Amino acid sequence: MRDLDVLLQEHRTFPPPAGFRERARVADPALLARAAEDPEGFWAGEAAALQWDAPWDTVLRWTPPHARWFEGGRLNAAVNCVDRHLDGPRRNKAALIWEGEPGDRRTLTYWDLYREVNVAASMLRHLGVRRGDRVAIYMPLVPEAVVAMLACARIGAVHTVVFGGFSPESLRDRINDCGCTVLITADGGYRRGAVVPLKRNADAALAECPTVKHVLVVRRVGGTGPGEAHAQMVEGRDHWWHELAAQVPAECAPESMEAEDLLFILYTSGTTGKPKGIVHTTGGYLTGAAATMKLVFDLREEDVYWCTADIGWITGHSYLVYGPLANGATCLLYEGAPDWPAPDRFWALCARHGVTIFYTAPTAIRAFMKWGDHHVAKHDLSRLRLLGSVGEPINPEAWMWYHQVVGRARCPIVDTWWQTETGAIMITPLPGVTTTKPGSATHPFPGVRAALLDSAGAEVPVGGGLLAITHPWPSMLRTIWGDDARYVSTYFSKWPGRPDLYFPGDGAKKDEDGYLWILGRVDDVLNVAGHRIGTMEVESALVDHPAVAEAAVVGRTHELKGQAIAAFVTLRAGQHPSGTLRDDLREHVARKIGALARPDDVLFSADLPKTRSGKIMRRLLRDIAEGRALGDTTTLADPAVVASLKDQYEAQEG
Ligand code: PRX
Repeated sequence: MRDLDVLLQEHRTFPPPAGFRERARVADPALLARAAEDPEGFWAGEAAALQWDAPWDTVLRWTPPHARWFEGGRLNAAVNCVDRHLDGPRRNKAALIWEGEPGDRRTLTYWDLYREVNVAASMLRHLGVRRGDRVAIYMPLVPEAVVAMLACARIGAVHTVVFGGFSPESLRDRINDCGCTVLITADGGYRRGAVVPLKRNADAALAECPTVKHVLVVRRVGGTGPGEAHAQMVEGRDHWWHELAAQVPAECAPESMEAEDLLFILYTSGTTGKPKGIVHTTGGYLTGAAATMKLVFDLREEDVYWCTADIGWITGHSYLVYGPLANGATCLLYEGAPDWPAPDRFWALCARHGVTIFYTAPTAIRAFMKWGDHHVAKHDLSRLRLLGSVGEPINPEAWMWYHQVVGRARCPIVDTWWQTETGAIMITPLPGVTTTKPGSATHPFPGVRAALLDSAGAEVPVGGGLLAITHPWPSMLRTIWGDDARYVSTYFSKWPGRPDLYFPGDGAKKDEDGYLWILGRVDDVLNVAGHRIGTMEVESALVDHPAVAEAAVVGRTHELKGQAIAAFVTLRAGQHPSGTLRDDLREHVARKIGALARPDDVLFSADLPKTRSGKIMRRLLRDIAEGRALGDTTTLADPAVVASLKDQYEAQEG
């Protein structure tokens, strides 16, 4: 968690810059007051901006903790993101401007996107996909990834996108959890000049995925040369995207979906070893994504908007696909790494494409700071007018650097707090009205009610507490796929007798001016470089190794990544600690989950600190990993264990 003392000393304030407020989408704070009084009225107004096949009967049906929004209404999300823009000047407007890591470029207008989505939807229908079926997407960030999501939405199939950095086992578990019948992938993608062998990973996963009948493969890296080796096609199961595309109808009529029909499932980490399939539905999700996109980013017709997230995360879903496209925006997509071929790649992209709105993560901002101002300064960023931050708390120094060096002190910063589960931004400045403070996500979005509560459920007017969302919102998750009991217990059981209070798992602070400062997770979930990782997932991967008897994983502060993963491991009899084994364990976790979960530190120990009832004392492990003075050890079964661990840790660091 963030250092409260540092935050308490943060008194700088930044009102909307001169000239910004006058032109802003929201310039009148009265909107906030109206939405606060009547959230359903506010959301209904935003929903009405979408195109519906049939109007809804009821805005909200709330039987805590289950919500249904816009019941009776029918719409199609892909039609809202694509077809809707064809009857006017947006028809030939760029929808996607894409750059591959090697420097190849493509631009798709809304009309191009319409054609591509139709063909892809026809391919899925041809492969037997029907309304309600699940389709997995495991792709690099190429235009076909966006097309694939929209094609699913067009025919009413439920997509589940799995980040391309996840391992075959992670892909397998997600596919099996929701029973996907088709997988869409590519022969590979580019990352730091190397090819990520997506198809090979997919094949390894599919060896244990009995429900998958067909695989659609985009040719990204292979030509007719050696790249072909990246994709071994299985006869009858696998189909090249470009070959099948030539064989199916060019048009594919959209399905008219119920507002509460599933749009997608996205897996995210929780406090157990098993990721949760977060379920989002059509009408409410699209309303939330579209409204926040428009108002938080103050979107205008002529903007060139860039969100640097991958579609494998919720940020990619809401602010790279559904939010911007539902608003008819022009979005930049970039496939690769920020430092390839040089640390100025992002700024070169901003300059070349005239980016006006830029949305990224604090971990990236801290890396840019470290790489040096000159990489930013040498590019013309004069078109930038708004900056955004998401994924983890942004430290005030990083905020100030972002403001001064990237924004040249002209651009408001929106620090947006939200989650996979919330579907859309929940706590955020509105750039035309909010006076920002570096490091604070400020206030709830219109129509969102949030509070700080103590563990008994009493409101904390000023000071630290647990964040709660006290009223339903349209883009909220509806359940966890296949496990509604876990939905209830994880999110709506924090305060006994109050199944109406949503608990996001974050702690926060409210200052005297009523500003919210998100402090970070209060559960066993880590946030490593903006990626959410459960400590239990990493522990399960470690104990899966034949040398390991027991493992405990905690987070420690990391200058660039926000948090780093520290693993404490006890070995089985006959196994001995060594540098080779340490490397082997780190690789083992990367292989099991994905490189993003590779532990930074592995510490061998003869024992782990436990209470007399056998519970591992993570608090003490965190103290050790942070190099702090040890907290209270009196409840330990064997206090000597921590002292020896601490000595070892310090020896290793030294
Ligand atoms: O701890 C919060 C942190 O990221 C968590 C959600 O992770 P995920 O579902 O992967 O979604 C990330 C992108 C929306 C939250 O519980 N978090 C996200 N945004 C912020 C943040 N913490 C502080 N400030 C933020 N702006």
